[in-house]
Amino acid sequence: MYNFEDIINRNTTNSIKWLEKDVIPLWIADMDFSFPKEVKDGLLELITEGVLGYADVDQKCYESIIDFYKEEYDLNITKANIIFNTGVIASLGAVLNTFLQAGEEVLFLTPCYNTFFSVVNRLGYKVVESKLDYCDGEYTINFADFAKKIQRSNLRAFVLCNPHNPIGKIWSLEDLIKIRDLCTLNGVLVISDEIHGLISRPNYKYNSYLKVSKEGIILSSPSKPFNMAGLKIGFSICYDEHLNQRLALAYNRFGLTGINSFAIKVLPILYNMCRDWLKEMNEYVYNNYKFVKEYFEDNNLKIGIIYGNATYLLWLDVSYYTDNSFSLSKLLKTKFKVFVSEGSKYLGNGQFFIRINIATSRNILKIGLDRIRDGLLSLNQQ
Ligand SMILES: Cc1ncc(COP(=O)(O)O)c(C=O)c1O
Repeated sequence: MYNFEDIINRNTTNSIKWLEKDVIPLWIADMDFSFPKEVKDGLLELITEGVLGYADVDQKCYESIIDFYKEEYDLNITKANIIFNTGVIASLGAVLNTFLQAGEEVLFLTPCYNTFFSVVNRLGYKVVESKLDYCDGEYTINFADFAKKIQRSNLRAFVLCNPHNPIGKIWSLEDLIKIRDLCTLNGVLVISDEIHGLISRPNYKYNSYLKVSKEGIILSSPSKPFNMAGLKIGFSICYDEHLNQRLALAYNRFGLTGINSFAIKVLPILYNMCRDWLKEMNEYVYNNYKFVKEYFEDNNLKIGIIYGNATYLLWLDVSYYTDNSFSLSKLLKTKFKVFVSEGSKYLGNGQFFIRINIATSRNILKIGLDRIRDGLLSLNQQ
């Protein structure tokens, strides 16, 4: 049994999440749980060696990913399909830069993880939105709109967030097949970001895009499920040899191939030895979700919870209280000292939502929820 209740004080650890000391941080996708002992032992072993020179990726790194995906997701991956890099966002930029010309377009299902848009805009491409339909607390793909957008003459790539941040949705195989068919028909490259893949409600599993296509590019990393963002490691999985050659060149051009020694040491430990930790973490997060649900009911809060059985993020419909999530989030942070992610930056219908991260101890979560409650109730008194 791992302990997810006792949280290390991160106020003194350079944690971006905990920079503001009197604020409860429920924003950035970073868990407060400490990593398992096996990881600590591996890191200590490396430090005891006393050398941190240039390191090559160990064969064990490939094998651990291959075995993990076979055993947990019944996916057949070979070493030739995997290329390591320094993270998902960095590699997404490299991929877009390789496959797109200036001014070309990238499609997203919105609301969607906002950093994607920054990458696209920064590199001189254009964001195109296909807004998800939202009905009775559930998001679905509007395939009529998706089909229309995918046919745009300048559209070259579709970035699938799988599972989807911020709505936590596990896309069905049926959805993935429709996406694949439309993208293939129109020659649009599919880039599937699967960084949240291993974080799901107990007994639920996400569907990798690899299940339906041999043509897309999967971007992933152990950093989200094992809370190792500081390691700066990611990898792509791609079955197509020609695409892989271009990916390798792209990572090289952007200097993304030099993996740090700590990441090389830890990655096989994570995939081989930390599955129990992952399972228990997922259970703890799911219980936190149930806690939030009960809390809203008990406090008679008119907040809809969007939780699609994956991620540790809850997308909260606060439309009863406001249509301006930007102002609400600002108020919550400045006056009520709880930092949530404001929904409008995710585009789509995000102005009616805030996103909270529930991967923290129940105590901290409870304080955060109290502050959100007080902030929302204060709106009615204005
Ligand atoms: C969907 C998604 N992709 C990528 C990232 C960041 O990945 P990395 O730290 O490997 O760049 C995040 C972080 O929250 C995310 O939510």
